[in-house]
Amino acid sequence: MKRISILGSTGSVGRNTLQVVREMREECDVVALAAGSNVEELVHQTVVFQPELVSLANQTLRDEFLKKLTARSDWNGSTPEALYGSEGNLAAVSIGDLDIVVSATVGVKGLEATFDAVKRGKRVALANKEVLVAAGALVMTTARDSGAELLPVDSEHNGVHQCLHSGSSEEVSRLILTASGGPFRTLPKSEFNAITPRQALNHPTWKMGPRITIDSSTLMNKGFEVIEARWLFDFLPEQIEIVVHPQSIVHALLEFQDGSVVAQLSPPDMKLPIRYALSYPRRQPGPQDRRLQWDCVRQLDFEPPDRERFPLLELAYEALRIGGAAGCVLNAADEVAVEAFLDDKIGFSDLPRVVSDVMDNVGLRQANSPREVLDLDREVRRVAWDYVQRRPKMFTV
Ligand SMILES: NC(=O)c1ccc[n+]([C@@H]2O[C@H](COP(=O)([O-])OP(=O)(O)OC[C@H]3O[C@@H](n4cnc5c(N)ncnc54)[C@H](OP(=O)(O)O)[C@@H]3O)[C@@H](O)[C@H]2O)c1
Repeated sequence: MKRISILGSTGSVGRNTLQVVREMREECDVVALAAGSNVEELVHQTVVFQPELVSLANQTLRDEFLKKLTARSDWNGSTPEALYGSEGNLAAVSIGDLDIVVSATVGVKGLEATFDAVKRGKRVALANKEVLVAAGALVMTTARDSGAELLPVDSEHNGVHQCLHSGSSEEVSRLILTASGGPFRTLPKSEFNAITPRQALNHPTWKMGPRITIDSSTLMNKGFEVIEARWLFDFLPEQIEIVVHPQSIVHALLEFQDGSVVAQLSPPDMKLPIRYALSYPRRQPGPQDRRLQWDCVRQLDFEPPDRERFPLLELAYEALRIGGAAGCVLNAADEVAVEAFLDDKIGFSDLPRVVSDVMDNVGLRQANSPREVLDLDREVRRVAWDYVQRRPKMFTV
């Protein structure tokens, strides 16, 4: 029985993980669940999975959780240890005899606990890409020292992980990550200013949390994935390319030195990479309805990304070239910009401008520990909010 802890259990990846765990009940046992503020969902998950430990973002939420759990007429388990905040997240990865930590929190909120799991040499199924965007060098060096294994849950990186069974990293000449292109793939740039949060939250192929959905619509998410791939697989930035593939069926392509290209294909459903990560190195039979219906696959299109309309992609390559803490600055600036856009404080076209201007205006320095990364993150977020508030709706309709 694999003992599993899930950071971000109430989110999109977290819920998909629990669905997969339910399908793999014979071999998976959920022992810890950590969430942010969704008390109702965590109570429900606790009733179903009976973990030993749960955590929420703060004490008030934890107390509300305990009240609601014990008031449930269908609750007949033993009350789990209920913690909160940083202590709760750290406890969720240090609970005894843990086999897998699923890192599915969004943003750098997940850094401290994910880093701790890596330091403890755990197997980490990683969805929380911002951890590597903000602190890739630090996390990977620590993983090499501790023997921790990072299994990518992001579908593209999971695809790369699978393709790498065809040859070694040294034999790879190019890594190509696919991008759906998001909801505005064909929209003229002149219409970007009128895009509303509701339109941007309507992704054509994937159902995800709000931050990654907005990041997908600007291609910032793809930029983050370039950084994630650089750290996970140790490829050079110039080896990593992006191709737009609107059907989201091919997730990654690896070109080997002899010219052969190996691709990974599957329907756009996060439960597949999650199942792969939970059952690795074996493959578990998955449900029939989660297979590609080949009679429905009419065509697979590929086109280059439009870097002029989606400048955030290039900015991610730039952050990789700069190195050091540039990824941390990029992530923090983008997180604020996304929040401001969702809050209707800036327009869609402002997103790349805010990120780029904040990157230009924050002095770069080294961040050599999770604490230093989080300090820099806080500082950048302050600068970014100040920038947004001083110049609200600067370029908008
Ligand atoms: N969704 C996808 O299909 C997908 C695909 C590939 C990669 N990813 C990556 O996976 C990560 C999660 O994405 P998502 O779409 O699942 O995001 P999401 O739906 O927004 O979920 C985020 C999770 O983080 C939790 N959280 C927030 N603050 C927290 C805190 N202080 N302590 C502990 N947990 C906290 C949230 O809890 P509450 O809801 O309780 O507040 C929620 O469970 C992101 O890094 C994303 O880029 C997602």
